[in-house]
Amino acid sequence: MSKTFYITTPIFYPNAKLHMGHAYTVTLCDIICRAQKIQGKEGYLLTGADENTGKILKVVEEQGQSVEEYLSQVTENFKDLYSKLGISYNQFIKTSDKEKHWPGAQALWKKLVDAGDIYKASYTGLYCVGCETFYTEKDLADGKCPVHLTAPEQIKEENYFFRLSKYTQVIKEKIESDELLVLPQTRKNEILALLERGLEDISFSRPVKNVPHGIPVPGDNSQVIYVWCDALVNYISALGYGRDDELFQKFWPADVHVVGKDILRFHAAIWPAMLLSAGISLPKSLLVHGLITSGGHKMSKSLGNVIDPYELIEEYGYEAVRYYLAREVSPFEDGDMTTERFKESYNANLANGIGNLTSRIMKMAQDNLDAPIVITEEKNMSEYFALYDTYEISKAGDYVWNEIKFLDQYIQEHQPFKLIKTDKEAGQKMISDLVARLHRVALMLAPILPETSEKIKTLIKENKVPETQLFVRKD
Ligand code: MSP
Repeated sequence: MSKTFYITTPIFYPNAKLHMGHAYTVTLCDIICRAQKIQGKEGYLLTGADENTGKILKVVEEQGQSVEEYLSQVTENFKDLYSKLGISYNQFIKTSDKEKHWPGAQALWKKLVDAGDIYKASYTGLYCVGCETFYTEKDLADGKCPVHLTAPEQIKEENYFFRLSKYTQVIKEKIESDELLVLPQTRKNEILALLERGLEDISFSRPVKNVPHGIPVPGDNSQVIYVWCDALVNYISALGYGRDDELFQKFWPADVHVVGKDILRFHAAIWPAMLLSAGISLPKSLLVHGLITSGGHKMSKSLGNVIDPYELIEEYGYEAVRYYLAREVSPFEDGDMTTERFKESYNANLANGIGNLTSRIMKMAQDNLDAPIVITEEKNMSEYFALYDTYEISKAGDYVWNEIKFLDQYIQEHQPFKLIKTDKEAGQKMISDLVARLHRVALMLAPILPETSEKIKTLIKENKVPETQLFVRKD
């Protein structure tokens, strides 16, 4: 079995304010990567920003900043959110990075040219400015962009094209056979249906005037590489593809690209086609998550239901946010989030759940045990960690909280604090066993609540009650 585990987040556009959706993707990746590291793999988590977009030009102009200044500010904001969420990432790749990213994008472009898959053509297409995407009639919903619900513009341009159509059949076979595993099954069906309808060749470059800070097409400075052969390439350029490929050799193919359902087609059709054309192995899997909604609706400013991750972190602590995203949102479907549900779940499962249980057990231990318990090697954790291998994170959460509930009930029924008065030895044994089970809970919590996990382990090592409650109840 492979010793490495390479996982990627999508790279984020620098024009939108960070919200719970972004926090979700990176937290999910962080949890998955931590679980693999705990199981002994060398994990590598890549994240970054998708910066060569024309969308920022207006903002930059309005704010009187240079593109570089603007982008470096946005990167700081991303990194700030990551650090507040306890994300342990290995690299933040910026597609504006001429040293790290551009050589990879241009090297891959040349491979596609060598394979005979890039050609020049005049193109008239339906272009949505919001998406920066050309749509075909088939993609539109009632003649409108399915994302922005606005009518696209007719645009005529001279572009380079990529022979995506050539790869339809082979990609279909690889997805059908799970050689490229698309999870969950609903998304696999969705992409297979799309492939069944066939793929059209797509525009792969733009005139330089549209995105002056974009990556030049090798051999033609009048055009820049458009989105696909730029953004998607981050997954390999960051590992040194096209410059120094030590990391690439070590970590590619990716174990999983984690993406939202809105970018499934790019990752399950265009990206594999590019890799096939260039003779590079395909990623092993795509985990396609749903969107975070609030009160059943897509978060939007006008509905006033946008949940700001910073506010929740400020009030409840970052682990409460990690907990909610891990347990209360399934990685396979849309997940709803309201501040009311957040608070309810926090009180029930963190303050009254793990927080309370730790205090109860450690109080009995501190008062009645002569020394800290000796932890022997934990057995039978593999059933639990296997849930992370199939990305069943909310089930992993249920598993731990069932154990927490069980221990609460056990204490209720067996009352070790009373037993100790009548039979010291039996009482001490029961309390020691409870501490050992709490230790297992701490180990299981590590991917989701890394700090709490460490705190509980330390309390057990010192045989002490927490000085302050792990999670304070909110009224
Ligand atoms: N730049 C492209 C991705 C290129 S990857 C090579 C992009 N960027 S994005 O900033 O718009 O979105 C980044 C990720 O955030 C996507 O996976 C998207 O699904 C996710 N989310 C954006 N809003 C979301 C929610 N409300 N809920 C969950 N995830 C959401 O697309």
